[in-house]
Amino acid sequence: MRCMVTGAAGFIGSHLCEALLLDGAEVVGIDAFIPYYPRAVKMANLAGLRQHPQFAFYELDLREAELAAVLDGVEVIFHIAAMPGLLASWSHFESYMTCNVLATQRLLQAASESGQVRQFIHASTSSIYGSLVLGDEQTKPQPVSPYGITKLAGEHLAQVYNAQFGLPTSILRYFSVYGPRQRPDMGYYLFIERILQGRPITVFGSGDQLRGNTYVGDIVRATQLAHQRFTPGSVYNIGGAEEVSANQVIALLQDIIGKEAIVQHGPARPGEQSRALADMRLAREQLGFVPATSLRQGLEAQVAWQRALAQD
Ligand SMILES: NC(=O)c1ccc[n+]([C@@H]2O[C@H](COP(=O)([O-])OP(=O)(O)OC[C@H]3O[C@@H](n4cnc5c(N)ncnc54)[C@H](O)[C@@H]3O)[C@@H](O)[C@H]2O)c1
Repeated sequence: MRCMVTGAAGFIGSHLCEALLLDGAEVVGIDAFIPYYPRAVKMANLAGLRQHPQFAFYELDLREAELAAVLDGVEVIFHIAAMPGLLASWSHFESYMTCNVLATQRLLQAASESGQVRQFIHASTSSIYGSLVLGDEQTKPQPVSPYGITKLAGEHLAQVYNAQFGLPTSILRYFSVYGPRQRPDMGYYLFIERILQGRPITVFGSGDQLRGNTYVGDIVRATQLAHQRFTPGSVYNIGGAEEVSANQVIALLQDIIGKEAIVQHGPARPGEQSRALADMRLAREQLGFVPATSLRQGLEAQVAWQRALAQD
């Protein structure tokens, strides 16, 4: 099978490419190295992949590149590329609008025109739901950030291309993801980095906000299951098993790292979720997906990766 992974140099995309190659797929990786975080970090994410004979990488921007040639022979698209992160979406709206909406529409259109694409798997987010996320996939979306709004628009486009043009699309709503290669703007990355460096951690709000964070290996497995048991028009919540607060995560990290954290509190951030736990009954029933990695195991893997980074 020849597949395309957009956002291949990013956190989740690079792990997904590795898993697909292990399964014997031929992978076309696409990334524009959007400077949301440094190019060097993304190059490091790609380093192993580029050695693989079944992996072809194209640096191109989905917002403007000609896509027909790179789609030649591609049967399955995993559209992982996006501008992620809540905070910057207030100040850099245009990048969110173009990378999450325009780029998605261009890729859907090109996939539809290619006539060869039999699955289009679209990575979305729990942020489409809003600040309190507890229900199933039928819960009314009420995003409270430009990020969530642009990701919801991407979902609608994927659904419209399925309904109007018969392009088989499926949507995966990922709940906060962590693990090795986590983006350097994300909470767990910053917590670990600061504890290792003996610098203060800023917790926004009380630190009691609850999350069911998802280990990246589980996200990748769920994404592969969505491909293996593909249903056009489907939407799935994909999250982790354990619901914990930022304060509990910091306590666990202190234990794993063996060092006290210096914690200071800042104001709650606009658009942040107060509680997010995936209702994953549908993914369990239809995909057979159950998250397998405990928070402790996942954090140990991320700490080991960040310790190695710090020594480079
Ligand atoms: N990390 C999380 O916790 C999380 C949670 C929910 C949903 N998601 C979704 O998962 C996906 C991947 O997130 P991530 O954390 O790996 O982010 P990431 O920033 O590490 O990866 C995204 C990649 O997409 C690329 N990209 C963005 N716009 C592009 C464009 N126009 N053309 C080509 N490439 C482009 C970027 O350069 C980047 O390398 C996103 O769709 C995001 O919305 C992530």
